[in-house]
Amino acid sequence: MAKYILETERCILRPPTLEDLDDWVKKLFADPDVTRYVPNRHLTPREDAERAFNESEIMWTNYGYGGWAIIDKDDGQIFGRCGLTYHEDTGDVELGYGLARTYWGKGIATEVARACVRFGFEVVKLPQITAVVVPENIASWGVLERLGFVFKKEGIYHDQNVVYYAIRRKQFQYGDSFYDARPFAPKT
Ligand SMILES: CC(C)(COP(=O)(O)OP(=O)(O)OC[C@H]1O[C@@H](n2cnc3c(N)ncnc32)[C@H](O)[C@@H]1OP(=O)(O)O)[C@@H](O)C(=O)NCCC(=O)NCCS
Repeated sequence: MAKYILETERCILRPPTLEDLDDWVKKLFADPDVTRYVPNRHLTPREDAERAFNESEIMWTNYGYGGWAIIDKDDGQIFGRCGLTYHEDTGDVELGYGLARTYWGKGIATEVARACVRFGFEVVKLPQITAVVVPENIASWGVLERLGFVFKKEGIYHDQNVVYYAIRRKQFQYGDSFYDARPFAPKT
């Protein structure tokens, strides 16, 4: 299935390539501030980045959505990741995101998460998108609430107490912020 590249006001979201993994490891998976509230899979930062990359590839191939590397339009640097993941056991499609520490507090997570959700509803025609947050991850709650996600239930995920959020297609406000989605044609 085709991969897509998304563009927001400040960012390009490009399906990840193996060349992105060094940046992901350094800026995300090896930073305890960034991994504090994400599931501990008992992997090294490199293994975890590879797991995320491989999962994204499977998603893009099988479902027509997956992960993106987040790139700063100003300087071309990769500073994060986000995406949509299908869970076979529940049928949920889960939104995820993480930014390098220096990019927090600027509204960028909300900007890129909104683009992922819009793509999921507009292009993939998903009926609903979910998100899973540990209660202590206040910053992530903020992102979801700004997007209009609503509380669903409490539960356990990867041995952690978590809160499930969800948004249905009809509930989502597209807003007027800049957004573009186009098929991704990697350089050969
Ligand atoms: C979760 C995470 C992405 C949230 O990042 P964030 O910077 O708080 O979220 P945003 O980019 O939407 O920025 C919101 C903040 O920027 C401020 N802001 C500045 N300009 C803004 C703008 N144009 N629009 C919206 N918010 C803006 C907001 O007031 C808010 O600040 P506050 O938290 O002091 O209220 C980040 O903490 C992270 O990467 N964590 C590690 C990975 C992780 O936990 N992922 C989620 C797993 S569920």
